Amino acid sequence: MSVAAITTFARPPLAQVERLLNDAGLPTADLTSARLEDFFGIGSPNALAGVVGVELLGSAALVRSLAVAPDQRSHGFGKALVNAAERHARSKGATDLYLLTNSAEQFFEGLGYKRAERTTAPEAIRRTREFAALCPASAVFMIKHCAPADRSA
Ligand SMILES: CC(C)(COP(=O)(O)OP(=O)(O)OC[C@H]1O[C@@H](n2cnc3c(N)ncnc32)[C@H](O)[C@@H]1OP(=O)(O)O)[C@@H](O)C(=O)NCCC(=O)NCCS
Repeated sequence: MSVAAITTFARPPLAQVERLLNDAGLPTADLTSARLEDFFGIGSPNALAGVVGVELLGSAALVRSLAVAPDQRSHGFGKALVNAAERHARSKGATDLYLLTNSAEQFFEGLGYKRAERTTAPEAIRRTREFAALCPASAVFMIKHCAPADRSA
């Protein structure tokens, strides 16, 4: 199936999101129902196959919490989720996308993200809990610059 044909949905339920992120060893300590406004899922709300989130910080956005259930990987769900997160961030005015990852640097490189020094992170990104406290210092920091979305339509 092409990535464009994969459907994502907004605001996946907290319990399902926590289950996927815990299984993937990703942080959940700062998740709230409000934060899930900017999260997307794949599968069904009761049997989530994948999740991604965005923290919107003006022209910057942190892409976070990307996980696909182990038995659902390599079907393009990861790419489709990142596409959904990017579309959402751009629709809200973000042009600079940032993320931290321990295990998926090459995956994100394939989607146009480039490794960068953590010291180059803007203040708003540094202040996120994910950046400041929840992700290990060894995590790779990556950046992608996007064209502004056409929001006139
Ligand atoms: C990273 C992850 C989300 C990818 O999900 P997925 O649904 O398997 O991804 P896709 O099917 O869209 O894969 C796209 C491509 O990336 C490759 N890929 C997948 N995971 C990869 C990884 N960890 N490292 C390098 N490449 C990877 C796939 O082989 C595929 O390549 P292809 O298009 O040439 O066939 C999934 O492996 C996962 O949940 N990992 C654990 C959590 C994690 O590391 N999250 C990222 C940190 S925020």
